[in-house]
Amino acid sequence: MNKCVDKTFLWGGALSNVQAEGGNQALGKGLNVYDKLVVTPEKGQISQGDTNIAANHYHQFPEDIKLMHEMGFKAYRFSIVWSRINPTGIEDKPNKAGLKYYDRMIDELLNQGIEPVVSLVHFDMPSYLAENYNGFLSPKVIDYYLRHVEQVVNHFKDRVKYWITYNEINTAPFDQMAGLVAGSKRPDNMSKPKFFHDILYNTQLASSSAVNLIRRLSPNAKISGMITVNEVRPKRNDGKDRLAADITNKFNIDLYGELMCNGRYPDFYQRFLKLNQISIQHDDLAEIKLAADNMDYLAISCYQTRVISTELSMANISEMNQILFDTVNEPNPELPASHWGWTIDPEGFREELNHLYQKYKKPLFVVENGIGLQEGETLKDTLNDVDRIDYHKKYIKNMINAINLDGVNIVGYLMWAPIDFLSSHKEMGKRYGLIYIGTMKNGVMKRIPKKSFYWYQKVISTNGANV
Ligand code: BG6
Repeated sequence: MNKCVDKTFLWGGALSNVQAEGGNQALGKGLNVYDKLVVTPEKGQISQGDTNIAANHYHQFPEDIKLMHEMGFKAYRFSIVWSRINPTGIEDKPNKAGLKYYDRMIDELLNQGIEPVVSLVHFDMPSYLAENYNGFLSPKVIDYYLRHVEQVVNHFKDRVKYWITYNEINTAPFDQMAGLVAGSKRPDNMSKPKFFHDILYNTQLASSSAVNLIRRLSPNAKISGMITVNEVRPKRNDGKDRLAADITNKFNIDLYGELMCNGRYPDFYQRFLKLNQISIQHDDLAEIKLAADNMDYLAISCYQTRVISTELSMANISEMNQILFDTVNEPNPELPASHWGWTIDPEGFREELNHLYQKYKKPLFVVENGIGLQEGETLKDTLNDVDRIDYHKKYIKNMINAINLDGVNIVGYLMWAPIDFLSSHKEMGKRYGLIYIGTMKNGVMKRIPKKSFYWYQKVISTNGANV
């Protein structure tokens, strides 16, 4: 009962190229929102890396892909950096050198028998679009994005079958993440609910239109929209905390599930708009509805669960808004957490998989799951990453139980990440990799497999029986 049922299960890993490549202005690449991000250090942050070097994946990707092959990867998710193909975002024609670069990457993957899974926007909007249009807050950027998608899909569709239209789209409408995820900043005169709605609608329209476009250009493609799922639980067994957790999960997860998988605004959201006096009469859901049918999987990232606590009674819309926009979720005090306070909750992961599948019925594709660990005192300690093995072991076991015992349909597990890279806060010391990346010496960053590399190799070769 411990095996993955289906032999076609896609074991592998995932990475975001802006966080790994470096080579910021090589081959005519334009700068993007991640390159230009001014970091607010995450709690526990220990260092800051250089996006121009990152993990030097730009130069060393063939070596990285060979190591992925050695682990037995069946699939590998990466992103084609938008600003490498369209340096400012408004070009009529794609940058040929950029396309050639990813030709080499994709050919290398296929040569090694690894299925490419391509993300179309992952913290890589050309900064020109962010600075001149305020990113997806402007509907014009939807057109630029779709032109880019069309160029990329037309160029690679003979070799790429799996597409993810938008990384963690459900984080885009919140002030803290909007810059990186949507290239947008809330104007001073715009309320948080109005900004939430405009970004939600424009990013969802962009993603859904991309789903429909890919289906037209490549009818047999496998297409996913993507959300991050880090459910929130009540901190105390108390009515207010339970209600606060419910509201948070509804807006962070259910709203997106309904939009992406059923093409509709749930009733609670329509009420939220009405109470905040936001009109939706011009929002056309036709593309979004069509995309719900065209989407093969719901792709998810999942790392942790959080808790929430409040003294608010949530008896009016302004208090509900406070829960949504101004209440910080915390690590669960009853569970272990990483150095950065990310709660480790493998059973919570199984619950989340169940919730999503029961509600939306789409096959799930786990395209990110991993743990950031500090370096050890010596290289030997860093390579002996037993805490990473322990984390993945527990999460994978729970996923397999969700498949075999609960009947959840999951098509693959792409762990985060095969190699060390810069975190979303540009931190190299927050290490996620199965492969250690050393410091730069003579243009090369040394790659060394960690203990988890060999462990994961076994998991894949036994199709999950040997977790
Ligand atoms: C996901 C992102 O939210 O979390 C990744 O898609 C990111 O790009 C990952 O790296 C882990 O988060 P962090 O902040 O530790 O890098």
